[in-house]
Amino acid sequence: MDKLEIKSKIESLRKELEEYNYQYYVLSQPTISDFEFDMKLKELEKLENGNPEFFDTNSPTQRVGSDINQEFTQVKHKYPMLSLSNSYSKDELIEFDNRIKKLITEPFEYVCELKFDGASLSLVYENGQLSKAVTRGDGEKGDDVTANARTIRSIPLHLKGNDYPESFEIRGEVLLPFEVFAELNKVREAAGEQLYANPRNTASGSLKMQNSAEVAKRQLDAYFYYVLGEDLKEDSHFETIQLAGKWGFKISQHTKKCDSIEKVFEYIEYWDKARYDLPVATDGIVIKVNSRRLQNNLGFTAKSPRWAIAYKFTAEQVSTILESVSYQVGRTGAVTPVANLSPVLLAGTTVKRASLHNADIIEKLDLHINDVVFVEKGGEIIPKIVGVDDSCRHPMSTKVEFIQSCPECNTELVRQEGEAAHYCPNETGCAPQIKGKIEHFISRKAMDIDGLGQETIDLLFNQNLIHNSADLYELKAEQLIHLERMGEKSAERILKSLEQSKQIPFERVLYALGIRFVGETVAKKLANKLISIDAIANSSYEQLIDIDEIGGKIAESIIKYFEVEDNRRIIKRLQSYGLQFQLDQNSLADRTEKLVGLNIIISGTFEKYSRDELKKMIEQHGGKNVGSISKKTSYLLAGSNIGPSKLEKVQKLGIPMISEDDFLKMLED
Ligand code: IVH
Repeated sequence: MDKLEIKSKIESLRKELEEYNYQYYVLSQPTISDFEFDMKLKELEKLENGNPEFFDTNSPTQRVGSDINQEFTQVKHKYPMLSLSNSYSKDELIEFDNRIKKLITEPFEYVCELKFDGASLSLVYENGQLSKAVTRGDGEKGDDVTANARTIRSIPLHLKGNDYPESFEIRGEVLLPFEVFAELNKVREAAGEQLYANPRNTASGSLKMQNSAEVAKRQLDAYFYYVLGEDLKEDSHFETIQLAGKWGFKISQHTKKCDSIEKVFEYIEYWDKARYDLPVATDGIVIKVNSRRLQNNLGFTAKSPRWAIAYKFTAEQVSTILESVSYQVGRTGAVTPVANLSPVLLAGTTVKRASLHNADIIEKLDLHINDVVFVEKGGEIIPKIVGVDDSCRHPMSTKVEFIQSCPECNTELVRQEGEAAHYCPNETGCAPQIKGKIEHFISRKAMDIDGLGQETIDLLFNQNLIHNSADLYELKAEQLIHLERMGEKSAERILKSLEQSKQIPFERVLYALGIRFVGETVAKKLANKLISIDAIANSSYEQLIDIDEIGGKIAESIIKYFEVEDNRRIIKRLQSYGLQFQLDQNSLADRTEKLVGLNIIISGTFEKYSRDELKKMIEQHGGKNVGSISKKTSYLLAGSNIGPSKLEKVQKLGIPMISEDDFLKMLED
């Protein structure tokens, strides 16, 4: 292919991939398989890598983000990002309606919309291309998060059709769907990390992460509800938003025109209940005057538009009786108090339990058994107790005291300074901790043992057949077959899968051990850097924190893990069964020490290797790939299209720049 043909192939692939992307993420109607999509994306990536002159930051290949830490620059909003005035009752809405009617003398209509509860974002498009994405900030200026916004698949990088204004801004909300939020927390729980409180905070935290490759993994979504610009065609806000839908934006399908305040009330009543079936969080509805001309006439106060108002849903609250408090012990030994309540209907579901989080919250509420408590379902998914009706308290009722010893194994609980949670320290003798560890060990991203699940682990544990992950490899077919609901075929499947797991690479075995704070990424880093379990076990605190992305908390946890005799014994046994406790020979053979002591930062796009490949090469040769520029940086490995601020920084610090070829030469001799 000559250059012209390559260019047109690249362009057609980009267009095609953006269209698949739109069908999948905006319309939720995929038209090709993930596999086909990936193949096409790879093809495009290859062409782009081989022809860097056709680089485009808005190419679908750029949606994976970059793992170079960026610092956000502040950008002034062309149109300030104001907030809406809030209302909480029909009376307040009637007042709003009366105010408007006094100011507008002609017939008009309202538009009712869902009020999405996420992080607001403003996008600027020039000639149909995403040019900037800015957070709300203080309303006047916000953070430039364009690189992060590009990774959100439902944000179009190129607009569809040709009837969009040459230049305009569009505002919307970045959201983390409930399902993704739950999945994210599941992974955090498995890694023994503190859970995220609610989808809103997690969405806004994700949008401001400095590493866009991490943002890309978050599966954020975005809905758009406000278009601003000088040359918008339609007077109707409703029609403008429908047009934005045609340009490729995700717009809510539940927006409705209402010609009276009564119709607005109907909308509110419907969505106050129906919102629980939506995939994302909402905290109210927004009522806007539809005509943009009338909006202009009404104008703004200092803080908010006169032509719109938010009606906030009140988090539904009910009162019920606190019957008892029970305590759950998790895989990491964290003890969570749970309130057992007289069953009560709340926001469409019967609630019997509410999370109490920790001892401080119990103390703050001054909870007593048989108290009448107020339960609320707010932004958090699990209902919580928000208050106690003191007037109903029985004088003889007993105060809830946080337990002192583990409800499962009776060991005295500990609470470290600065930590909210109590822990059971009996890691190797406390049933839920043991079972939880084994469940983590067999999970898909760890040893991926087919046919084994929580129920079977429970049975095996209760029948004294397993006490730790090493015991799994001693299991015999006869023992398995005798378990409830276990046939010969299933038993065979489990044993075969255990046998196959002996080939699973070291980094996953390391993750499977369930060392607190050692998730998949940390396990990978440790394995690549230290190569064997013995090296990890013998590393000092200083050696550990010297590894990229490993901080004091992780290092301490690793050291503590290897101090426990039982843990060392289990590893020895796993080694004796043939599990991988060392990086495999292939990756080992290519290792050298040519770049030891060098901190290298990668920036731009390259011709021969992808950035991930270059990163791997740096590590393989003993160097350190760093994310941000500092005095300690040895080289900037520079491709084409390096950001100007980065260039300025390296020049200021006098950091030498090397090309891809210079770098490859360094590895030669
Ligand atoms: S319109 C000039 N529409 O609520 C006002 N805002 O307090 C433009 N929000 O900052 C905002 N859903 O982050 C509008 N359908 C919707 C919305 C919405 C959520 C957020 C937005 C805004 C805040 C207002």
